[in-house]
Amino acid sequence: MRNPILIIDDEPGIRSVLGAVLSDEGFSVVEASSGLEALSILKTDLIDLIFLDVWMPEMGGLDVLKAVKADWPDLPIIMISGHSKIDMAVRAIKEGAFDFVEKPLSIDKTLASVQNALKFSALSRENRELRESLFLEDTMIGEGPAMQRVKELIQQSAATDSRVIVLGENGTGKELVARQIHRQSQRSRHPFVEVNCAAIPDSLIESELFGHEKGAFTSAVGRRKGKFELADGGTLFLDEVADMSLHAQAKVLRAIQEMRFERVGGETTLAVDVRVISATNKDIPKEVGNGRFREDLFYRLNVIPIYVPPLRERQEDLPLLVDYFFKKFRKESKAEVLDVPHFTSDAWKFLTEHTWPGNIRELKNFLERLLVMTDNDEIDAEQTKIILGQSFAVSAPVTPLQPWLNMPLNDAKEAFERALIEEKLRENRYNISKTAQALGLYPSNLHSKLKKFGIETGK
Ligand SMILES: Nc1ncnc2c1ncn2[C@@H]1O[C@H](COP(=O)(O)OP(=O)(O)OP(=O)(O)O)[C@@H](O)[C@H]1O
Ligand SMILES: [Mg+2]
Repeated sequence: MRNPILIIDDEPGIRSVLGAVLSDEGFSVVEASSGLEALSILKTDLIDLIFLDVWMPEMGGLDVLKAVKADWPDLPIIMISGHSKIDMAVRAIKEGAFDFVEKPLSIDKTLASVQNALKFSALSRENRELRESLFLEDTMIGEGPAMQRVKELIQQSAATDSRVIVLGENGTGKELVARQIHRQSQRSRHPFVEVNCAAIPDSLIESELFGHEKGAFTSAVGRRKGKFELADGGTLFLDEVADMSLHAQAKVLRAIQEMRFERVGGETTLAVDVRVISATNKDIPKEVGNGRFREDLFYRLNVIPIYVPPLRERQEDLPLLVDYFFKKFRKESKAEVLDVPHFTSDAWKFLTEHTWPGNIRELKNFLERLLVMTDNDEIDAEQTKIILGQSFAVSAPVTPLQPWLNMPLNDAKEAFERALIEEKLRENRYNISKTAQALGLYPSNLHSKLKKFGIETGK
């Protein structure tokens, strides 16, 4: 869907003629009779292109141009100029206007200018997105020995066509590794196609992977290409591969062995050239042992295993990662303040001792929250703990059982009993009979529990 073109001109005649020409070409049009009206429209509506009259009473075209460029630098603007105002139009181009058209308007020249402006802005947008995505996704931070090893493996496997399986905990950067291999390989000009095996229902997996013909099943309204076909010439990334059903595993096994398959409901066998990279955070040999993963498929996928170590095993990379993410967030938010907070030495100590269960993703969320939540120059251990604590609360499902989730029942019972007794003691200022009453216990009973848990009441 394209957004409208905004025509800014105080002459209703020009607005309606130009509006009609553009509507005939299938564009939608919004009109403004003054610069101020236009600026208020821009605040609420998405606009793809502006026609702007050079000469208008009150706010002149050049001033409107500057105001628009200040807030919407990428929005292309074509100036409409009377014959005697050409020098102004030329000045406008220097100020960042895309082009100008002269009154009386020539339909051909006007439409040509519209096409060019839209093409140009699409290209510059694409360019910017590409640059951003290069910065965002394609940088792999880490110079320590563990990451050096990973980078070496990436390079070695990029030079081959062998299947790679990327192993590692949640958020360690497995997908990033897969993308790097593709990008450094001969196939980089062809697609990198990702399939999240855990997210596709079993009934749809075949259609997802191999595509389907029109009418193959009730909801198959048209012919659709599957991921294998889309990845032809490039790389197919089977993410969360251990979460595939056994049924799906059998289908995938055949496809990657033969590189041939049929679309669901189709007769023709299609042949593709696809390099397969898979990833999982599960212990696959264990899954094989439990009968949840096909051993033959595992051997097919596991030609080059790449293990991405968790953050706690490569703390030497922490300062680099912190620096990288801070810069990235500052860049993304187009913030005026470019300096970022410093951690005190206790805060660093805390960060390096933290075990980072969510790995790089957790670190990234933590740093993003930190920038939002504080404008202090220096962050100490206390603040670090608070912000890290809150980032857990958001990323982990909130349940009052949190502290006990990973304990055997008996330990959990004891831990709970102990915590409750301590809390009630504090509430009742360590008065035993009141505490016992609050807990519905006999004082002697409470005494023996205090003894059992070694709780001091002398405070
Ligand atoms: N070495 C690194 N340098 C910079 N950014 C990284 C690095 N490793 C991971 N990231 C970033 O951390 C986030 C998580 O990475 P990614 O999605 O690749 O992890 P994953 O192992 O696939 O996670 P999951 O197991 O949850 O699927 C992404 O935003 C990624 O860009
Ligand atoms: Mg992933």
